[in-house]
Amino acid sequence: MPAATAPIAYSALGQRAQPPTIARLMALMLENPSLLSLAAGFTDTRTLPEPAVQAAVAALASRPSAPEHLQYGTNQGRPKLRALLAERLLAQETLATPADVATVRKNVFITNGSQQALYLAMQVLCEPGDIVLVDRPSYFVYLEMLAGLGVRALSLPVDAAGHVDGPALRELLADLRERGELPRLKAVYFVSYFSNPSARSLEEAEKTLIAEALTAAGAIVPVVEDAAYRELYYETQHAARSVLSLPAWDAFPKLYLSTLTKPFATGLKVGYGTSSDTGLMEKMLHVKGHHDFGTANYNQALLEEVIDQGGLDAQLARIRPVYLAKMRALHAALVAAGLPALGWRWAVPGGGLYLWLSAPAALDTGLDSAFCRACVEAGVLYVPGELCFGDDAPKSFVRLSFGVLGEADLAEAGRRFAAVAHRFA
Ligand SMILES: Cc1ncc(COP(=O)(O)O)c(C=O)c1O
Repeated sequence: MPAATAPIAYSALGQRAQPPTIARLMALMLENPSLLSLAAGFTDTRTLPEPAVQAAVAALASRPSAPEHLQYGTNQGRPKLRALLAERLLAQETLATPADVATVRKNVFITNGSQQALYLAMQVLCEPGDIVLVDRPSYFVYLEMLAGLGVRALSLPVDAAGHVDGPALRELLADLRERGELPRLKAVYFVSYFSNPSARSLEEAEKTLIAEALTAAGAIVPVVEDAAYRELYYETQHAARSVLSLPAWDAFPKLYLSTLTKPFATGLKVGYGTSSDTGLMEKMLHVKGHHDFGTANYNQALLEEVIDQGGLDAQLARIRPVYLAKMRALHAALVAAGLPALGWRWAVPGGGLYLWLSAPAALDTGLDSAFCRACVEAGVLYVPGELCFGDDAPKSFVRLSFGVLGEADLAEAGRRFAAVAHRFA
C-alpha cells in the first residue's frame, strides 16, 4: 500500500484551476471513436503543409554555417521572422506616423501560439477581481483563462444584430463608475476578424465606438485585438484596419495579436504580436522569460524560411477554397435537413472555421442539457454557445467547427445534428 500523502495547500491560482472544457470535449471524443466532432477548432489535417515544411527542413539542414537554429534562441524571437511578420502586418495597416511604424516594427514578438501572448498580457495587467471587457460572444478558451486568473469578464454590449452598442456601453461604464469599480477595469479584448465563435468581423466604426465610449469614461486601458483569423478569409479580406491604425485608439496602449497556427501549421504552435507600447511589450517578455525564455527556435527558423520563400501565401491560397467548400458542405447539410424551418438561424461566414447557430430561444443547448447529451448519443459533438459569453450567458447558441472533418463527414455530422434538432423541436 503506498503511504497516504499529505494534502497539498494549493495557491489561489491552483485552487481556481479547473479542467479546460476543451479537454472534456476531447476526452468524450476519445471515449467514442465514432463521434464526429464539430467541437475543437482544429485545422484541416490533410492540407497541412508537409511539402513546404520538408523543404524548409532541408533548406535549414543544408546551410553551411553551424546549425544555430537548433540552439536556444532569444526571448523576443528571431529577428528575421519578426521583420517578415512586421512587413506583412504593416502592409495591411495605415499607421499615423513613421514613429508609430518604427515602434510596431521594433515591438513584434514571437510566442508559443497567440494563446501564450493572451496569457502573458493578462498576467501583467490583471489582479484577481479585476475586470476585462470582452466581445459578445467571445473566445471561450480566453474566457476560461480569465476565470482561472480570477478576472471578471464583462461583455461589450451588442444590439439585436450583434453589433457593438455604443450607448449601452456608455451606460455600462457609467454603472461601473457609480459602483466605484471603474478603476478595476484593466483591459478590453475582442476577436475582430472572422471571429471565434461568431465568424463575425468588427467594422471600423464598431471599434471606434468602443474607443469613444472608453475615452468619454476616462478609462484609457490597454486594448487587446485578437486577429487570429485575419488571413483566413475565403475570397475577400475584411478591409477594416486594426486598432493600431484607427485614430480613436490613439491614446490607448494597443496590443495586436495573431498567429501562424491557423493559417499555416497548428502543430508548430507559433504566434506573434506587437504593441504600440514598448513598456507593455517588455513586461510581457519579462514574464515570458519566466515561462520559457523563448519560443522554440527551430520552429521559428522553419517559419522564417517558409515565409521568405512565399510558402505562407501559397498555403493560404491552397486552404482558403478548402475551408470555403467545408463551410458550404456543413451549411448545405443543415439547410437540407430543414434546420431553418425549425427556427435555427446563422450567418454564412466569409472566413474562419465556425458556424455560429442560434437555436429557437426556448431550447437549452448547454453542456449539461438533454440536447447536448442527445447529440453525443447521436454521434456528433459541438461547443455549447453558453461557454462563449463573459457574463449573462444565453443557453441557446451552438458553435460548429468545420476545420478538421472532410466534406462527407461534415455532411453526415450536419445530418446527425439536425436529426436531434428535429426531435427537440
Ligand atoms: C480567437 C483565438 N485566439 C487565439 C487562439 C490561439 O491560437 P494559437 O495559440 O494556436 O495561436 C485561438 C485558437 O483557437 C483563437 O480561436
